[in-house]
Amino acid sequence: MSGVLAIDSARALFARMRGKRVLVVGDVMVDEWVWGRVSRISPEAPVPVVAVHDHSFTLGGAGNVANNLVAIGAQVSFAASVGDDAEGRRVLELLDAIGVDRRGVIVAKDRPTTRKTRIVAHNQQVVRADWESSEPLGPSDRARACAQVAKLAAACDAVVLSDYAKGLFSRDLVEAANVAPVVMADPKPQNIELFAGVTCVAPNAREAAGATGIAIKDDASLEAAGTKLLEQLGTRYVVVTRGERGMALFGADGERLHIPSVARTVFDVSGAGDTVVAVLTLALSAGASIEEAVRLANFAAGAVVEKLGTATASPHEILELVGGDDDR
Ligand SMILES: Nc1ncnc2c1ncn2[C@@H]1O[C@H](COP(=O)(O)OP(=O)(O)OP(=O)(O)O)[C@@H](O)[C@H]1O
Ligand SMILES: [Mg+2]
Repeated sequence: MSGVLAIDSARALFARMRGKRVLVVGDVMVDEWVWGRVSRISPEAPVPVVAVHDHSFTLGGAGNVANNLVAIGAQVSFAASVGDDAEGRRVLELLDAIGVDRRGVIVAKDRPTTRKTRIVAHNQQVVRADWESSEPLGPSDRARACAQVAKLAAACDAVVLSDYAKGLFSRDLVEAANVAPVVMADPKPQNIELFAGVTCVAPNAREAAGATGIAIKDDASLEAAGTKLLEQLGTRYVVVTRGERGMALFGADGERLHIPSVARTVFDVSGAGDTVVAVLTLALSAGASIEEAVRLANFAAGAVVEKLGTATASPHEILELVGGDDDR
């Protein structure tokens, strides 16, 4: 089975991942969903009137990484900043509901909780409204966030840094986090330098291109971008996710692996990157080789893009794809 992930090793890995303690540090968001039907055009303006029949809230951004870690059986701690508002309290409730330790969440008085409201009619998004600030945290909030992260990271098997460029990350925050045995970063290109020295960065291809200034259009430019990120950041690994093209691994010791995506049908690709960092992190902290970790993360991403309306996958769902791989 060389070069392939055997189902027995995948199963054994999941068993070792269970109960690992992982700290997620990142930009958290509330995704608000307003579902309805369009019955008429408004008399006030030429826009549709949506008659609402459902209204729900889910954790987005770094919160979705926590969702994915919990789905695989990790013990999760969370550090982030929220505003002093109803949505900030909702973030805490949503974290409580999935059993995440949220003592590392600080309340910043000078900014709103990031919230994305989608109005969806007949399963079509009509409009999205964003509440957010991407200003850097003020100095005292930054110091509080660093103190929380330093304390929590020291007690964890791994840390995930989930950056959506909403102002949380600074070099001192990354340094506070960079004490765990495995530190995984999902960076935005404009912040790439903050993540120097972590174990692994896992940008998507667009972000890797933005961070390096190299347009990724073929194998040679992909190799150039991966190598440049390794050199620029001094990380042990760089994993570039490539949507339907799969994933590429670059290791500082010359490791290279290019694997195609595995989804059989694609329903919903959003959040697949969060699944990738969650599984990569847990696999590495459970002692997987980087090649095994990348393969397992790719199967996990395949499992979530096959699902409608949820962005997490259970070990069972992932193993089903690993097992089915022989037939394709
Ligand atoms: N259209 C697709 N078909 C098959 N697999 C896909 C598709 N899109 C994504 N994937 C799987 O998900 C992984 C991560 O996706 P992608 O590269 O789009 O990450 P991303 O842009 O960070 O996603 P997001 O930011 O929405 O979480 C890919 O490496 C691949 O395994
Ligand atoms: Mg992403």
